[in-house]
Amino acid sequence: MTTEATSAAVPVDDRAAVVRKDLDNVFHPVVPHRQLEAEPLVIVEGRGSTVVDADGTEYLDAMAGLWCVNVGYGRSELADVAAAQMRALPYYPHTAMNAPAAALAERVNGLLGGDSHVYFVASGSEANEAGFKIARQYMKHEHPGQARYKTISRYLSYHGTTLATLAAGGMGDRKMKFEPLGGNDFVHVAAPYCYRCPFGLTYPSCELACVKNVEATIQGEGPDTVATVLVEPIMSAVGVAVPPDEYLPAVAAIAKRYGCLLHVDEVINGFGRTGAMFAHQHYGVRPDIVSIAKGLVSAYLPIAATVVRNDVFRSFVGEPSENRQVFQISTYGGHPVAAAVAARNIEILLEERLVERSADNGAYLLDGLRTLLRHPWVGDVRGKGLLAGVELVRDRASKEILPADQVKRVVDFARRNGVIVGRSGGGRHLGNTIQLSPPLVITRPEIDRVVAVLDAAIAALGTAPA
Ligand SMILES: Cc1ncc(COP(=O)(O)O)c(C=O)c1O
Repeated sequence: MTTEATSAAVPVDDRAAVVRKDLDNVFHPVVPHRQLEAEPLVIVEGRGSTVVDADGTEYLDAMAGLWCVNVGYGRSELADVAAAQMRALPYYPHTAMNAPAAALAERVNGLLGGDSHVYFVASGSEANEAGFKIARQYMKHEHPGQARYKTISRYLSYHGTTLATLAAGGMGDRKMKFEPLGGNDFVHVAAPYCYRCPFGLTYPSCELACVKNVEATIQGEGPDTVATVLVEPIMSAVGVAVPPDEYLPAVAAIAKRYGCLLHVDEVINGFGRTGAMFAHQHYGVRPDIVSIAKGLVSAYLPIAATVVRNDVFRSFVGEPSENRQVFQISTYGGHPVAAAVAARNIEILLEERLVERSADNGAYLLDGLRTLLRHPWVGDVRGKGLLAGVELVRDRASKEILPADQVKRVVDFARRNGVIVGRSGGGRHLGNTIQLSPPLVITRPEIDRVVAVLDAAIAALGTAPA
């Protein structure tokens, strides 16, 4: 792998000034500001799976940023691609064509089976939202007598930060400060979260009650009101819920039976994260709409896309007088610099066989994490590829969750010992899973270190967490 550390953008002596300037001026997402004051992190450089604070402290980033730096930090060749493209053409709106976006679309299309068109946007939320809109417009074209506009999505899912994607999502803690979120456009079904089966059942004797719930909900809503069924194949943000293998094919079959489009959110799952190029490919389904972001460009620049099967795309092709085009635009959609970098990022994934590596090292990581089950506070360990969760409980028999302050102790211990891990969001009552989603270039010794630090962090809870 060709990565190199760059000289720190912020001289170490200036760290305190950066922290002051930030606290005085920046409105941060999600993290409480008092916490930022107490524990500021000023990341100035990265290489491979390691990031470095302005004070020189190195961290093994077992979250790849926000589940996204798949090819790892410090790929200076991606900076070179960006600089060359910026010199040639920094920007032009995607109402016209540009070579990098065309090449990237061809590449992405090829990875997804070769019968799609790619609609570019700048973030995963926009990719999902464009998917909702494309599905709705498609239904107006194809079923003029019906009002097919609803999306069936799952409780505990996360699909983005805009009002519509929040409404589509099912994480109570993300939604509650902004509710109400509007009408009945997004209807939720139970998540395939087997450790906490919403039906109180156990696989396989459950006979996939969660799949039956999808069908019953479509029937209850009225199939002629439903446009899409939206799923993230492996649910990430709730703490990595891996469904039974039959789940996605069965949901896909139901969507098809009722004339709904299958919309798969691969924003985290895609580009090797789960040990396949796209997670739905583990299960042999062909979605109608696929949302991609994050690993598409390993977050070196903002770019995302909604990939639409040609069966659906064709409905948008017509003479100007027919007005069939999708009537929305994102200023940064098809950005030539981001597209050029994304195309090279995908080449790196392929050249270095990082998808296969994710499968192999993911199995190795999971084996390591399973050793943590020796602690009474570990209720469940699960994952696929380099996407894993360790669910912490106060009591294994009742599965009562470990309280938030105790989970934070584990996360903080890991960080103090040089390993950054994530922590699940959840419904209004979850948030007790340690999440891991490292760069796909993570090495086995680094994986050993992640496991060892987590082991020590959980052991430090003592024998009886409060
Ligand atoms: C599954 C999933 N979909 C969509 C999004 C939204 O992506 P973005 O933050 O780029 O808008 C996220 C973000 O983490 C995600 O995890």
